[in-house]
Amino acid sequence: MAATVETDVLVVGTGPAGSAAALSLARNGVNALVINKFGWTARTPRAHITNPRTMEVLHDLGVYDEALKHSFSKEFMGENTFCTSLAGLEVGRIRTWGTCPDQAHNYAIASPEENCDITQNYMEQVLIGSAAHAGAKVMFHTELLDYKQDSEGVSARLKNRLTGEEFAVLCKYLIGADGANSTVAKIADLPLEGVQGKEGSMNIVFDADLSRFVEHRPSVLYWIMQDGSDVGGLGMGVVRMVEPWNRWLAIWGYDLAAGQPDVDEAKAIKVVHNLIGDNSVPVSIDSISFWTVNEVYATKLSKGRVFCMGDAVHRHPPTKGLGSNTSIQDAFNLSWKISMVLKGQAGPGLLSSYSEERAPVAKQIVTGANRSISRFYEIMGALGLDKAETPDQMRKAMMSMGDDSEEGKTKRAALDKAIYGTRDVFDNPGIEIQHRYSSSAVADDGSEDPGYKGDPEVFVEQTTYPGARLPHAWITVNGIRQSLLYLCGGTKFTILTGVSGSGWIGAAKAVHDALGVQINVIQIGAMREVQDIYGEWSRVREIDESGAVVVRPDHHIAWRAQGWSADGPAALMDAMKAILSAE
Ligand code: FDA
Repeated sequence: MAATVETDVLVVGTGPAGSAAALSLARNGVNALVINKFGWTARTPRAHITNPRTMEVLHDLGVYDEALKHSFSKEFMGENTFCTSLAGLEVGRIRTWGTCPDQAHNYAIASPEENCDITQNYMEQVLIGSAAHAGAKVMFHTELLDYKQDSEGVSARLKNRLTGEEFAVLCKYLIGADGANSTVAKIADLPLEGVQGKEGSMNIVFDADLSRFVEHRPSVLYWIMQDGSDVGGLGMGVVRMVEPWNRWLAIWGYDLAAGQPDVDEAKAIKVVHNLIGDNSVPVSIDSISFWTVNEVYATKLSKGRVFCMGDAVHRHPPTKGLGSNTSIQDAFNLSWKISMVLKGQAGPGLLSSYSEERAPVAKQIVTGANRSISRFYEIMGALGLDKAETPDQMRKAMMSMGDDSEEGKTKRAALDKAIYGTRDVFDNPGIEIQHRYSSSAVADDGSEDPGYKGDPEVFVEQTTYPGARLPHAWITVNGIRQSLLYLCGGTKFTILTGVSGSGWIGAAKAVHDALGVQINVIQIGAMREVQDIYGEWSRVREIDESGAVVVRPDHHIAWRAQGWSADGPAALMDAMKAILSAE
């Protein structure tokens, strides 16, 4: 075996999770090596819906502008269409991704960002390129074979797939961001719940000018109900925009029990032509790949010095568009913790909060995404397609929605309801933005848990209760409007207080002197650099002007004090010691 490589952190995988982890670690000054067994990042579009919370994270990671260059705004995304083919009968539409007024305001209140469409091949390139630029070491054609860990570190066996040579990596921590067939999670024997491989599906990437079918109803997703579309996959065929309006991804299901079908170019063109509904459209096939609908989540995301993230620990269908988003957010949660432990600013106990905080998220998104598929069956049920056995019966069932009869009337009402019911497949500001953590990295402030008044997956209820993500509020910095979120984060803790909270400056300095942890104190108010000029912060902060909201590097609230008092410094010190597992 060749020489041994030493690094602080070995990241396996350059997908959204691994590349975001490498970038975040490198920006935190951590010596990280990231590997991918293939020669490059994802070549096919795969994930694309990028939610507001991920855009906030990209902002913090310094790649926001670069990512935006590869994005399409929500105006290209929203007219989700249900039809028999692009050229065929249109059954209904629903405005999505924050383009419908009844959800748009929920997004606008909760985040400075909007949904946008960034295909995974671009997202990974932005993240991994920036990670390398920030100092992460990146190796392609390099496969993790196995690893062992003990109390001192992890020893991994890697293979250079170009030369066949094996070599060892010694690291303090190992991150398994190696996707749905994770070797890292398998060796760690992480407890997995659910079913891997529920339905079969294929992705066909193709080029075709489809402007005339879609320009008047711009959307990233066109849902197709036709003969065979209910077999496997997502319950419907899908035509997904990759680049308006010439590059596309067709999704078509297959019966998993019958095995992966043989799909050559001619068969792929046939599938695409059926979905378009016009065989005369010139189509050029770029790639054909297969994947399965899964319902799997890990109930524990780490073991000792090994941490898993992304599809390695949560596997689910693309409905709700949460896979890549959650993977990036997992990385954002873990990286600052590893960095502080490596710098000696926190005890290793801080790292257990990763699993405590992100395992409930894994469960929530996996069950939510799978549950949402049933919404499509409700549409088919409303149309009577569930009882149709032949293409002719399907056509008749569809056409009868235009009948001037009691049956037609009932069908139209059921269809409206079913299509409106798909809102929670697409617009979930709650599940996207407002995870509230309960863990050892969050200190109790003695107040009562506010809970949720509405559906926590759908609505965002902003709060400064410890564990919540810091509420978004527009403030001004030297007169320029920006989100309060962007004053926090980076690699530091932040205290937000008011004009009468000057005492927190000394309290933060005492923490720095004792623990070596820097806490930025920002006083918000009149005659200060940062002003709550719209009064938005005072309406959501839930504490007195002299109080303190302590924000972690990942924008989540670590602790808060209702007001300033002589006990404030000692209380802050205790809270920080508990959060950081520091002595
Ligand atoms: P991912 O699988 O992307 O990456 C794994 C990495 O590990 C790869 O680089 C691989 O080469 C590497 N690797 C594996 N084993 C290795 C080994 N032994 N050694 C070295 N390297 C190894 N999500 C979303 O948020 N919004 C959306 O709109 C969609 N839409 C969507 C549509 C379709 C059709 C699909 C199939 C999926 C989506 N997703 C999605 C889901 C999304 O694609 C998925 O959740 C992410 O790719 C997961 O990212 P990870 O980084 O965890 O794994």
